[in-house]
Amino acid sequence: MTSKETLITAAREAKENTYSPYSNFPVGAAVLLDDGQIFKGTNIENASYGLTCCAERVALFSARTASPAKVIGLAISIGHNEAGLSKESLVPCGACRQVMSEFLGPEVPVYIDGNRTFTMDELLPHSFKLP
Ligand code: THU
Repeated sequence: MTSKETLITAAREAKENTYSPYSNFPVGAAVLLDDGQIFKGTNIENASYGLTCCAERVALFSARTASPAKVIGLAISIGHNEAGLSKESLVPCGACRQVMSEFLGPEVPVYIDGNRTFTMDELLPHSFKLP
């Protein structure tokens, strides 16, 4: 399997463990580090809705907690496979893009299950950075 296929498979696996009883909208993500490790995340919702954490952030925070190695790829699998979501729905939310831009260099690929591959810079040009 290519690293793209491996990562998308990991994102789909993560999605199986979604905790999304309020939206019923599962998301999975997987992060590849340059030391070869893969970390997964799924969306974790809460009865206090605003406390929900997206899959991308769960995966990135888990990766960084385990290792300071560089992120060299991220895959996302969004929604129910049978739902026939439009390409506009198969993209990470704005908050996650900002968090991703902290850890993914501008050329790092973001593989989206069912959609094309974007670079980080395509998803969020001009991201906020502290001086
Ligand atoms: N969600 C993610 O996990 N990632 C995104 O990029 C967009 C939205 C989750 C949050 C919530 O649990 C559900 O999808 C519906 O918004």
